[in-house]
Amino acid sequence: MTLARLHDWPALVQKKVQALDPRRMPRHIAFIMDGNGRWARMRHRRRLMGHREGIKTAKSIIRFCHDVGGIDCITLFAFSTENWKRPKLEIAGLMMLLKYFLRRETAEMVENDIRFRTIGRIDEFPGFVQRELHRTMEATANCKSFTLNIALNYGARREILDAALELHRRLAEGEARREQVDQEYFEKLLYTADLPPLDLLIRTSGELRVSNFMLWQIAYAELYVTPVLWPDFGPSELLDAILDYQNRDRRFGGLSGRPHVQGPESGIPG
Ligand code: FPP
Repeated sequence: MTLARLHDWPALVQKKVQALDPRRMPRHIAFIMDGNGRWARMRHRRRLMGHREGIKTAKSIIRFCHDVGGIDCITLFAFSTENWKRPKLEIAGLMMLLKYFLRRETAEMVENDIRFRTIGRIDEFPGFVQRELHRTMEATANCKSFTLNIALNYGARREILDAALELHRRLAEGEARREQVDQEYFEKLLYTADLPPLDLLIRTSGELRVSNFMLWQIAYAELYVTPVLWPDFGPSELLDAILDYQNRDRRFGGLSGRPHVQGPESGIPG
């Protein structure tokens, strides 16, 4: 982070930034932004007020991740394939919030060289939201320094199924040969094909589940769950997660430099 940008943040955040190891930054962080409803309920407010606060948090996290350096991409889980089960009014409110978010933030994204993209079936979203999404994607298509990826109408099982169906089509139509197909090939059929591998998944508000989110991509990601509700989550809490991540020993199923025994002999999986 440049010194000028660092000074924009509170002293505690600056102190934590200084404790980071710049060589071990997670390149891609994903967020399950949970707890907006609880945040609102605790204040006797409507759920949509919680989502509005959630957008404020999202903006501050985007800005911070862009500024801190070493993070190339973040993915925000904003609307799942299961969220259609919510009351119609809440869904409509979320669509409006998304539209205004895109309207207000596109110019700033371009200015800060932030590429905007999505994962999920946005073709099933209302037309007015799709138009805003495409407008922002086109406006930021040539931005390179950071990627903001938002999961919208996203479900990991659907993503894997879509990839499987595309693979089946390619094999049936002779566009691919069976011998070519390995995990790397399959990965290129997922919605995340052009994104860096996921390093860290953060879930707010304490629930210990992954909720159909990035099931393929989390295979070797580090998981971090905090009881803090999404509207109360900020750069200081994010830095706690990154510092925790930097203290972990990522072995990807292999052995680390540490002198401990693993594998079938020890009975300890990698
Ligand atoms: C989960 O909280 C949150 C959502 C389903 C929506 C998340 C959306 C936003 C934060 C706004 C969209 C963000 C952008 C960047 C456009 P919940 O309602 O499930 O909370 P609860 O579990 O406490 O009820």
